[in-house]
Amino acid sequence: MTVLRNSALFLLLLLAAGCTDDSGTEPTPGGTTEAQLYSLGKNAAGFTFYKNSADTITKGGNSAHPDPQLRTRYNSVAARFLGSDGKVKAGTLFPDSSLIVKELYTNSVLTTYVFMFKRAGDPHADANGWVWAETHADGSTLYAASKKGAGCTGCHSTGIDFTRMNDAHP
Ligand code: HEC
Repeated sequence: MTVLRNSALFLLLLLAAGCTDDSGTEPTPGGTTEAQLYSLGKNAAGFTFYKNSADTITKGGNSAHPDPQLRTRYNSVAARFLGSDGKVKAGTLFPDSSLIVKELYTNSVLTTYVFMFKRAGDPHADANGWVWAETHADGSTLYAASKKGAGCTGCHSTGIDFTRMNDAHP
């Protein structure tokens, strides 16, 4: 019995250790990092594209994001708040674990990942629970999550729960 209980405990410890590996699934206590968002968001599998289209589109007029082409996708948690037209439903407040990834392209080459990740109380989240970050295509840092969205939130505040796709790409 004791042996059984010990091995069960060991298994639990193994599982717990597995949650803190570098797979990016469990954000670190110090705050979600851009590296974790990159590993969660670089692969489009399981994501739903804005307007249900994986085609790249031309960026909106007042976008600060430099590349001319983009496409935006939503993980399964966030995608529940897209209508059948693939646009964000009016009045949406995205729940924790929502991840929105915008990919930027120049001449059809992916250059940048741009992330919004909802996690209220995360040390890197802004007052509304969003963690903001950008990486280059290889995952190296472009805009660190630790900056808490300074320089992002002002421009995004006009959108539905700070998201701008609906108004820039109606
Ligand atoms: C000058 C205004 C402006 C600033 C500053 C800005 N954005 Fe955006 N952002 C936009 C617009 C407009 C869109 C809609 C897509 C497009 O045309 O680029 C957008 C789209 C996005 C999206 C796709 C989800 C959505 O619907 O909003 C993400 C993610 C994002 N921005 C993250 C960021 C991050 C991270 C920063 C700061 C490093 C930032 N943005 C700074 C204007 C801005």
